[in-house]
Amino acid sequence: MWAMQDGNLMPLADCKVSVLDRGYLFGDGVYEVARLYRGRPYLLTEHLDRLERSLEAMGMVGWNRRVCETRLRQLLDHAKPDSGLFYMQITRGAPSVRKHAFPSPAVDLAELMYVAPLAPHPEENYTHGCAVVTHEDIRWGRCHIKSINLLGNVFAAQYAKQRGAYEAVLVNKAGRVLEGSHTNLFWVRNGVLGTAPLTENILPGTTRDRVLSIASQQGIAVDYSPLSVEALKECDEVFITATTIEVMPVRSIDGEVVGEPGPVTNRLLRAYRDDVDRFLSIPA
Ligand SMILES: Cc1ncc(COP(=O)(O)O)c(C=O)c1O
Repeated sequence: MWAMQDGNLMPLADCKVSVLDRGYLFGDGVYEVARLYRGRPYLLTEHLDRLERSLEAMGMVGWNRRVCETRLRQLLDHAKPDSGLFYMQITRGAPSVRKHAFPSPAVDLAELMYVAPLAPHPEENYTHGCAVVTHEDIRWGRCHIKSINLLGNVFAAQYAKQRGAYEAVLVNKAGRVLEGSHTNLFWVRNGVLGTAPLTENILPGTTRDRVLSIASQQGIAVDYSPLSVEALKECDEVFITATTIEVMPVRSIDGEVVGEPGPVTNRLLRAYRDDVDRFLSIPA
């Protein structure tokens, strides 16, 4: 696997990080994951836009988008990946002493990008839907930032794994569903598509956004009203979205069956894949 660390192309296994790096010490950094289809990053503009927003919200300065895009092109030209993913992380760098407050004067940000193969998801998750479980959201109050600080997500994902479920649906203190540990959540009631509103409590998913655009093109109405766990379990259809999984139907929630993938979910999954095909049909 190939990586580009601070502009240096090298095998991923050869990358080295200082033990004083603030990502390592404090989780003080941000990241992005984009999907590579036939070696081409889908929704790259949207991912880099979100990265810029994350950096701004973190008060991290000194990142240059044009330089990053050039480095990414060099990495892809060299690694020649097929399908897979592109991971990128930027931390607040490695000052000479460990102090909580931002380094002053600032030190160079540390940038890592690499391409990696994607482990395929079980096909039956798409044909019959996946199992999810609900879990209290114990994360911090800035979940719209794609921070590398992911302990709340990690705990929830592990909780799901231990129960044989594919994903954990995070529930706020008011009992409303927000998103998954690494996915956004959608539901369908009486033909109307629902999803949590964009607040500081969820990640503005690139796939979520594309699915909402597709829904609007197809004349599907969307409702952003908060939804309780009980109401979610009564919905006609439920699905999750993310860069690496696209649109995945949910079959059961906490062991209670929602049902086989429904018509709106299947339609959006097909349309999403058509959108990828359209992207691939445009010359690079
Ligand atoms: C908490 C969370 N929500 C949603 C998503 C989906 O975002 P995207 O569609 O941009 O992959 C992710 C992806 O990593 C995530 O970690």
